[in-house]
Amino acid sequence: MDNETLKTEIKKLKKELGVSIVAHFYQKDEVFNMADFKGDSLELAKWAAKDEKKNLIFCGVGFMGQSVKILSPDKRVFMPKIACCAMARMIDVDYFDQNIKTLEKAGINKEDIMPVTYINSSAEVKARVGEMGGTVCTSSNAKKIIIKARETGKKILFVPDRCLGQNIAIDMGLKSCVIGDGADPKSADIICYNGFCSVHQLFEVEDIEFYKNKFPGILIVTHPECKPEVCAKSDFVGSTSQIIRYIKELPLEQKVAVGTEFNMVNRLREKNTFVLSSTKPECPTMNETTLQDLYNTLISIKEKRYENEITISNEVRGNAYKALKRMFEI
Ligand code: 13P
Ligand code: SF4
Repeated sequence: MDNETLKTEIKKLKKELGVSIVAHFYQKDEVFNMADFKGDSLELAKWAAKDEKKNLIFCGVGFMGQSVKILSPDKRVFMPKIACCAMARMIDVDYFDQNIKTLEKAGINKEDIMPVTYINSSAEVKARVGEMGGTVCTSSNAKKIIIKARETGKKILFVPDRCLGQNIAIDMGLKSCVIGDGADPKSADIICYNGFCSVHQLFEVEDIEFYKNKFPGILIVTHPECKPEVCAKSDFVGSTSQIIRYIKELPLEQKVAVGTEFNMVNRLREKNTFVLSSTKPECPTMNETTLQDLYNTLISIKEKRYENEITISNEVRGNAYKALKRMFEI
């Protein structure tokens, strides 16, 4: 089937089966345009939890579909591709526990650690964080969550994105370290796990200098998964939704260079918008989902084969829910 026929069939099947489709901003245009709701990680989880339809197709990466399932266990959540965010894959429960042991060896008691996990992590890691009294955060609320977590007086262990942890620490005037970087974790307020997003690592200070020299007056906009030195030189740092809102408010003639995933930057504005890197910043896992996959998922629901359904054990869900619920309470 060609793309136009696929689009028509998807629309028909979606109506016939009473299925909602949501998509993250990083999805390919053809998939993105099929969605009933589009948003950043937090907005998608919130919207999906409120949506009354029983079946949901989530076009994004694995942890996003899992978050919906944790929040709404009665919903059937399907993903056209269960592609795992490369950063989320950098930490599992064993690595998490090993890092707790490392901190204990450095003289920090487990009871004095308050874990905060970025939503880009598996349900199992969220469950471990929930068990320890910790919270989930997203790029749009990380600062708020860390302010609240610090009220406990405990050391913050931030997993898995070292850049987001470091950027929040700089923003709040706190000290941070990355486990294994040689610094004494006891002297840090925020101890970061050594994970990162390879897509956002592409943006460099040299890219900012290049654009500032080429177009004096250009604004630099980046996602907090970028390196701290890149965020420090940016005019605006925010989640995907915050970036979209910021750019929408700018006069059309204002030039901007944006440091986040290509698909999103490409559809921001027709003119005066540049990708802050000479290498195309494409998220390989977000780009795995195709129109054909979306169609196949709908057909598998129609034929009651229910392929690529997200399932989470009750034990994992219970503790992961605690960590996600704390975020919503804050
Ligand atoms: P947002 O929550 O800002 O949409 O970010 C998700 C993500 O994976 C960014 O790389
Ligand atoms: Fe994960 Fe990075 Fe892709 Fe976002 S851009 S989904 S953090 S690999």
